[in-house]
Amino acid sequence: MSDPTRVLAGHTAEMPEGHQTAVDLNGVSVLVVNFEGTYYALRNNCTHKDFPLLGGDVSMGRVTCEKHGAKFELATGKAKTLPAVKPVKLYRTQVEDGQLYVSEL
Ligand code: FES
Repeated sequence: MSDPTRVLAGHTAEMPEGHQTAVDLNGVSVLVVNFEGTYYALRNNCTHKDFPLLGGDVSMGRVTCEKHGAKFELATGKAKTLPAVKPVKLYRTQVEDGQLYVSEL
């Protein structure tokens, strides 16, 4: 059965630490990151300008927007450095039978 509120992001065995991918959840691109063994999911758009966060450097629990360098906290979505000030939307991650799912919080 397909559940439009939840999408499969992939198999955890193929998403090692540091792995990033983007999934489509009801037409919205969501960034999924494995940081130090925990999966985080955030809207794949910087809140400064419309720019994808996918591929940005991840360190110290933050993902960096490659456009102008804003950093967002993976656990909260909060903007931690300028030029972004607004948080990015967070999503839920769930692992079931080795599969990682992303859904609305
Ligand atoms: S678009 Fe991300 S920091 Fe400007």
